[in-house]
Amino acid sequence: MSTGVTITSPEKLKQPNLPKADSCVLVILGASGDLTRRKLIPALFDLNCVGCMNPYFQVLGIGRTQMDSEEFRKQMHDAAASSGDSRNFAEDRWDFFAERLHYMAGDLNDPALYEQLKARLAELGDFAGTHNHLFYVSVPASLAPPIVEGLGKSGLNQNDKGWSRIIMEKPFGRDLQSAKELNSTLLNAFDESEIYRIDHYLGKETVQNILVFRFGNTMWEPIWNRNYIDYVEITAAETVGVESRAAFYEETGTLRDMVANHLLQLVALTAMEPPIAFDADSVREQKVQVFRSIHPMTPEEVERRTVRGQYGPGVVDSAPVPGYREENGVSPTSRTETYVALEFHVDNWRWAGVPFYVRSGKRLPRHVTEIRVHFKRTPQALFARTPDEEMDPNIVTFTIQPNEGISIWFGAKRPGPHMSTAPVQASFLYENVFGTETPDAYETLLLDAMQGDATLFTRRDEVEAEWRIITPIEEAWANAPAPNFPNYAAGSDGPIAVESLISGDHRGWRKLAEEPTSGK
Ligand code: BG6
Repeated sequence: MSTGVTITSPEKLKQPNLPKADSCVLVILGASGDLTRRKLIPALFDLNCVGCMNPYFQVLGIGRTQMDSEEFRKQMHDAAASSGDSRNFAEDRWDFFAERLHYMAGDLNDPALYEQLKARLAELGDFAGTHNHLFYVSVPASLAPPIVEGLGKSGLNQNDKGWSRIIMEKPFGRDLQSAKELNSTLLNAFDESEIYRIDHYLGKETVQNILVFRFGNTMWEPIWNRNYIDYVEITAAETVGVESRAAFYEETGTLRDMVANHLLQLVALTAMEPPIAFDADSVREQKVQVFRSIHPMTPEEVERRTVRGQYGPGVVDSAPVPGYREENGVSPTSRTETYVALEFHVDNWRWAGVPFYVRSGKRLPRHVTEIRVHFKRTPQALFARTPDEEMDPNIVTFTIQPNEGISIWFGAKRPGPHMSTAPVQASFLYENVFGTETPDAYETLLLDAMQGDATLFTRRDEVEAEWRIITPIEEAWANAPAPNFPNYAAGSDGPIAVESLISGDHRGWRKLAEEPTSGK
């Protein structure tokens, strides 16, 4: 049963004045990759349509693929027009935007390329009247260090006519050691305040709303701790398989791809202490404290507290799909995990004894990302002898996607002469209340980087603290006997072993194939 949410003052729903980006030349290094056409260009285009871009902006793509700016514009146009990733696509709006797109083909490993880039930036800057530079590095992990060095050696890291900033797309290294090395390479060329390590989950509306929900209201904080919360369940389930990214995925796996960044960020936002202010350093400081409180697992704990899986053939969205090992570009004996479930412990005063169960996987029955905060049962079962026997504990659910919103399950009396109870839900859906589509995470984050706000980006110590948690798990898995893959059918809820990961009365994973019909 859903009660929805009533807003008493519709005036308050209106968007305040929209922020505007500084003028700049955005240089995408790795522009022939998928991210540019699927996310970056649609996000910039939408920002421009809603009036958040400075009219003097320019975008310069650099990639291996040989093409000229005309061809680049055409490819970006076709992608933005057909993909549905742009919220505002219209041909007449596109023309204004397209004039600002440029492309340069080149080998990002070649130091000479950075001299050419310098000349091109000077030219574009004079033409457009802006000398601010935002470098967006979107390449495989091995290519990132030579790019940063190339920018540093050519002097592009410094800018006496404006600012220079660098956005680092994931993967940020592949373990603690490589992340540390990449951080040192970056800090040789740029100041920490100029470095924007992106985790696109932080740009999602509901993710940001976790902080508003927790720290913008008085009623939650007093109960947001081990005295009232039983466990936290975080799920990022995808129906898609490995798609065209087999080469990347074979090297990466779900733990590095999803948990090392996105899901640990969700843990941190759920668990962190209130920051002293909503600014980059205060927020990041509190997140780092959470990561430091999660002790790296021993091999024995990895055995007990983690489950990994790989999908076999099955049925997703009513269509048969191949197993991971049958996908194009995947080894028939691959040991790469496409699913992972883990139990983390945040060993601090607030959370001691409260498990955080986290799972993520591909080819699951439903696309959903959510955080479910399960509260403890009431101290006395006052209504125990009613026809429903037991009342379900309260649950607060943050639905990150789709159907972004927040819901609260609680018990209510059924109408009628008997004392009979039922779980009911009060829910807030962004779309119903604000009547507008939420901006894509990349829009939010690109705009923030162009404005110089790093609050929603990760700091050096944060990213290293994340790898400090993940690397021992990768190492223990590498030393353990080969897993019995595939161990879940595409379209199922994941490996059977996951069920026993959550122990304790009344605890359990929410069934992915079903809509939750009660607090369970
Ligand atoms: C990316 C991963 O970071 O996040 C992908 O590399 C994954 O494998 C994607 O599909 C999920 O993002 P979202 O925003 O669709 O939840």
